[in-house]
Amino acid sequence: MSTTPEFIIVTPEYEKHIALIQLNRPKELNALNLQLMGEIRDALKELDNNDEVRCIILTGDEKAFAAGADIKQMAGKTAIDMLNIDQFTTWDGIKKTKKPIIAAVSGFALGGGCELCMTCDMIIASETAKFGQPEIKIGVMPGAGGTQRLTRAVGKALAMEMVLTGKFISAEEAFKAGLINRVVPVEVYLSEAVKLAKEIAAQSPIAVRLAKESVLNAFNSTLDEGLVVERKNFYLLFASEDQKEGMNAFVEKRPAHFSGK
Ligand code: CAA
Repeated sequence: MSTTPEFIIVTPEYEKHIALIQLNRPKELNALNLQLMGEIRDALKELDNNDEVRCIILTGDEKAFAAGADIKQMAGKTAIDMLNIDQFTTWDGIKKTKKPIIAAVSGFALGGGCELCMTCDMIIASETAKFGQPEIKIGVMPGAGGTQRLTRAVGKALAMEMVLTGKFISAEEAFKAGLINRVVPVEVYLSEAVKLAKEIAAQSPIAVRLAKESVLNAFNSTLDEGLVVERKNFYLLFASEDQKEGMNAFVEKRPAHFSGK
């Protein structure tokens, strides 16, 4: 990054091909102020352009992934201030990341924190994780995708209850509802995320990129439109060296080594 970020720690080579972004505002439970969100967006953009990186992990600390948007920063704002600040444009930047992002969540993932992990592609949670959209308790409602992504992930009944009452759900409930990939003991939530990242990093980066794009497209298209995009991406991959390598390796009964070309 051009300047050292203040509220996140970025490790581009946490493991081979795996980058780690750690939110680092522990005293404020990683509350997402505007600067921190800008730093995440900039880091993701840089890691997306780094050929060595194939998968990105976003994490907080044991107590909190993030307890939401920074309430203290927002409390005195008017509607026009919020419109002018337009904080969600930053979130749009995060959404554009082409490489897979795994959220490794422990403790609170609330409000914008829950929305941030839902903006990632997969979520590994510790047994201590708590997910919620408590904005209703401070007189507002989710603004960074909570009403949309949560509803698509867990269905109307639970999403409505969480958004209208602000209640938190445990990692186990989140897993049963389909919000997260798995629940693991707190000691291993980050290493489990790394394990998953390694599995993804071993695949063809170009195939991973187009597969991610195709899955996300399912949320924005009709079935027929989605199938057209899927088919084109499938055909496009036959232009890659990785397709030749992957299929030849299968035929020759040897492991494939993908170059990303
Ligand atoms: N914004 C700003 N500061 C926050 C914060 C937030 N979202 N969440 C926690 N903090 C701060 C607290 O103010 C406190 O700071 P001080 O010591 O200076 O008072 C510090 O972090 C520790 O928090 P608590 O003492 O409250 O810790 P706790 O363990 O007693 O409670 C908690 C933890 C239940 C998460 C509680 O802090 C809480 O309810 N936080 C707010 C959760 C919330 O409402 N999130 C939604 C925000 S709005 C939003 O996200 C909008 C959107 O859609 C983008």
